[in-house]
Amino acid sequence: MTRLTRADLDALPSYVPGRSVADLARELGIAEAIKLASNEVPFGPLPGVVEAVAESMLGSHRYPDMGVVDLRDRLAQRYAVAADRVVTGCGSVALAEHLIKATSLPGDEVVYAWRSFEAYPIITATAGATSIRVPNTADHGHDLAGLSAAITDRTRVVIVCNPNNPTGTSVRKPDLDRFLDDVPSDVVVVLDEAYREFVTDEQVPDALTTYADRPNVVVLRTLSKAWGLAGLRIGFLVAQPEVAAAVRKVVTPFSTSLVAQAAAMAALDQEDEVRRRCALVIAERDRVTEATRKLGVDVPSSQSNFIWLPLGSGAAAFAAACESRGVIVRAFQGDGVRVTIGTPEENDAFLTAAEAALAS
Ligand SMILES: Cc1ncc(COP(=O)(O)O)c(C=O)c1O
Repeated sequence: MTRLTRADLDALPSYVPGRSVADLARELGIAEAIKLASNEVPFGPLPGVVEAVAESMLGSHRYPDMGVVDLRDRLAQRYAVAADRVVTGCGSVALAEHLIKATSLPGDEVVYAWRSFEAYPIITATAGATSIRVPNTADHGHDLAGLSAAITDRTRVVIVCNPNNPTGTSVRKPDLDRFLDDVPSDVVVVLDEAYREFVTDEQVPDALTTYADRPNVVVLRTLSKAWGLAGLRIGFLVAQPEVAAAVRKVVTPFSTSLVAQAAAMAALDQEDEVRRRCALVIAERDRVTEATRKLGVDVPSSQSNFIWLPLGSGAAAFAAACESRGVIVRAFQGDGVRVTIGTPEENDAFLTAAEAALAS
């Protein structure tokens, strides 16, 4: 058949979502698997979210507010930035994609650490830009000096994922200060803070309070994780007004849906509950980290809601062994396994499965 689509996409890996409970039911006959594969928070929607979504549905025959005025005002107030600096989108991954589209032409370069969030290569390639991957340090963190050294005249964007998905590692303020000072002023630095709410190390800076006034910094946040809205698709970025305006031009019209806007407004009313839930996740993260280390795995300290097991070529077999015991974790072939922190019972089930998987 005559080729109808871009040839360069053939080489591009597809985004692989975490396997679902339905996948395990279908493939292994396990009716009630535990899903620890997609970094969601396990406690259900926040109070008030379901009601707000249901009420918003009464207007679902109309387009949503394309300017997302109420929600942007609310986010601006909450995060102490001007509303014209806030852009919302269909998850922060869509905003990262829009940002690359708004900054990079074919042949331009996007620099990021590897391994990091697996969407980065995809959104870079779909914009026609070139990925420059800088290997992580031996302890699974960003090599900031290496990232800085990888910047060339073609670089338009550098992404720092802090904490890093999937390794959970984070960069601290003195190192990030130095890095940001090094980056040329015509290169955009994306600070992707999808897991910010789980950070407990005081030396890991909050980019919105620390760096958002730097002209070339763009901060990405999501409501998918700590705020429990993964299924509704809502994230936001904060940038200088000119950058925000350029991103708005390439955003798909109306892509912050009516229900996402309503849900986000309701979720933002629940900050105390979000903090309470994050504290539970953090306590469990530290417990599961220790317990997994006791099983002999060199788990790096995590500042997120997941842990990383650097199992190398044993990753796929470990994940399969956990799945056969009803626990879905996320294998990154040949590299490691990422395990999302769930409820205490789910984490106990993971630890039992992990012990058996490592023994086999
Ligand atoms: C580092 C990082 N950034 C961004 C996202 C995207 O989040 P969402 O598109 O759900 O807002 C994720 C999701 O896993 C992530 O891990």
